[in-house]
Amino acid sequence: MITPAPSPQPLVPVIAIDGPSASGKGTVAQLVADALSFHYLDSGALYRVVAYATHQNNIDWDDATAVAACAKTLHIQFKHGQVFLNDTDISDQIRTETIGKGASRVAVHAVLRAALVDLQHSFRTAPGLLADGRDMGTVIFPDAVLKIFLTATTETRAKRRHQQLLGKHQPADYQAILQDLHTRDARDKGRASAPLIMAEDAILLETDNLTITEAVDFILLNYQQKMCK
Ligand code: DC
Repeated sequence: MITPAPSPQPLVPVIAIDGPSASGKGTVAQLVADALSFHYLDSGALYRVVAYATHQNNIDWDDATAVAACAKTLHIQFKHGQVFLNDTDISDQIRTETIGKGASRVAVHAVLRAALVDLQHSFRTAPGLLADGRDMGTVIFPDAVLKIFLTATTETRAKRRHQQLLGKHQPADYQAILQDLHTRDARDKGRASAPLIMAEDAILLETDNLTITEAVDFILLNYQQKMCK
């Protein structure tokens, strides 16, 4: 009797959205994921959790070996949009400016990036995944069906971050935010391991003059076009 060969499993589709800090990527990515009922991977949150946990344990963010060793012991979970570390909700603690800077510092370590690959791949489950970060389309999901590089000028991003902090009644100094974004961009783009670059097959989406809805609609339209090919 001839047993038919099993047909290859179609891969779960991934939409990769990469771009610099404060580009509005997170908001847009979450809305696209909701519209498609896709799972959502906020990869920046993983680096933030590592920065937070290492800080708590007095580990130097520049010590690659110690940072990666600590990361391997962490139990990180996303539940209903909240981030849990070893069953404690640390969603607010990882969103501070200090931890944002720390995330950018720990993210330069290749050994840490390698330690987080399997965890990121585990998010790829049906019906699909929206992966948000810096290296989603270039390194983690190079076979993503749609890759978007979402950006805006540093000034626009600084203005948005400034407004966001004011809205939360937190101290906000526009010049300091602008300077910090320049520093963070330089580190994210200049690192040797998985630097922030636009994938060759990504679509550039500049959001300076776009509303959130326009950016979301643009991505949904491009996804539909890719899937109908
Ligand atoms: O997106 P975010 O601001 O939460 O990311 C925090 C830092 O994490 C960012 O400065 C760079 C790093 N990061 C990274 O190196 N690779 C990713 N895929 C996501 C974030």
